[in-house]
Amino acid sequence: MAITNPDNEKKRAAQEALKYVNTGMVLGLGTGSTAKHMIRGLGAMVSQGLQVKGVPSSERTANLAKELGIPLTTLELAPQLDLTIDGADEFDPKLRLIKGGGGALLREKILAHNSKMNIIITDSSKAVRQLGKFKLPLEIIPFALQSILVELQEMELRPVLRRSSKGIFTTDENNYILDISVYEWDNLNELNRQLIAIPGIVETGLFLETTDLLIMGKGNSVVELQK
Ligand code: 5RP
Repeated sequence: MAITNPDNEKKRAAQEALKYVNTGMVLGLGTGSTAKHMIRGLGAMVSQGLQVKGVPSSERTANLAKELGIPLTTLELAPQLDLTIDGADEFDPKLRLIKGGGGALLREKILAHNSKMNIIITDSSKAVRQLGKFKLPLEIIPFALQSILVELQEMELRPVLRRSSKGIFTTDENNYILDISVYEWDNLNELNRQLIAIPGIVETGLFLETTDLLIMGKGNSVVELQK
């Protein structure tokens, strides 16, 4: 039986995804430990002459890309991306995702929405039958914190305000994150609609339609999944 090493699986998935990158592309660059492998690989390709531009989904990703010499641009200058490669916290058999473990879900969803193709890269631990063991992150505006907490508690979603070692966790957009329990919910499209309708919830970590291709590292190989 193959020994499962999540980091090795992440790296393999990232390397496989980079095969879809062509010169001249504008790329959405994801956030997280799996995306980091992809960005390092991309940096090596750029140093060998590949010409691409990246739009980063977080300040962390922007800093890493700059260190590696990957040219960056903005959504303002390049509103339509050719390809976005990003990680996920969970995916189900329909390739629906929970994202936002790293707190970058808002910019990640904007990039996914504006990308002609979205490739998700994961290790094998991210595959689930049903989404929701991983708490669903919501990005919210600080002004609305208390009212949103009350409403989500009434919906029995058990919201928890995300904290870091420095206090309340704040996103790159200076918002807060609430992590909620959605495992019991069958209809995630309906839940997503209800959540987005609450004033002050900016975005959810449910990525229900955007995945074109999912590449999962499994042992020493990769599995490619499409809808
Ligand atoms: C960040 C994300 C990441 O893609 C997700 O948390 C997966 O991270 P990792 O690759 O470290 O497992 O959504 O907001």
